[in-house]
Amino acid sequence: MFNQNEKDAIYKVIENRRDVRSFLSKPIPESVLQRILEAGHHGPSVGFMQPWNFIIITSDKIKERLAWATDKERRALAIHYENERQQKFLNLKIEGIKEAPITICVTCDPTRGGSHVLGRNSIPETDVLSTACAIQNMWLASCAEGLAMGWVSFYKKNDVRDILDIPPHIDPIALMSLGYTDQYPDKPILESSGWEKRRALENLIYYNRWDNQTKE
Ligand SMILES: Cc1cc2nc3c(=O)[nH]c(=O)nc-3n(C[C@H](O)[C@H](O)[C@H](O)COP(=O)(O)O)c2cc1C
Repeated sequence: MFNQNEKDAIYKVIENRRDVRSFLSKPIPESVLQRILEAGHHGPSVGFMQPWNFIIITSDKIKERLAWATDKERRALAIHYENERQQKFLNLKIEGIKEAPITICVTCDPTRGGSHVLGRNSIPETDVLSTACAIQNMWLASCAEGLAMGWVSFYKKNDVRDILDIPPHIDPIALMSLGYTDQYPDKPILESSGWEKRRALENLIYYNRWDNQTKE
């Protein structure tokens, strides 16, 4: 179905995609934005409910307000850390909303498709999981397009609802900042800043039952 070059390309994008928080003001061509949104909309969803909407934010005024909501949350969350770790946390750059030419608020509508969406009766949060699949598709597409994307989740949902006029039953799942960058990281920023390391995959794989690392 796919030739070797095509296979190599998809793994390359998966490995190279990074969370980015520094952006240039260079505008994003409309056709590229459209392709990225199409990639999101082709994500899988439980019962094919497609619970997402994409709010494209270009207004500086609205970006300012979103940046305020995230900064308020960042300062509130600092209480979870003490001493050096707290300083390290406060030094982390956790968003680039004001710099990025576009931020996309990706929402999830839990009521879409009615009360008996196929498959969602068992695990209700599959609507949010579906939305995350759309987001990952957009993230990979952005990387393939030479664009940087950053996921911002530091906010109180009601602040974002107020700022973007989102109705109370709709979940603002993510603020995805999008733009060109001259600082595309070659490894996760949390890794290069010494906050967290990538775990060894072999320790995360079990065989036949929980915690069994022996291939029988
Ligand atoms: C659900 C989710 C929420 C995230 N929220 C934030 C955030 O609020 N701020 C931030 O700087 N990064 C955020 N990130 C990005 C992660 O920090 C990043 O994915 C992780 O450090 C691994 O780096 P990589 O994406 O470059 O591989 C989020 C990622 C996910 C999947």
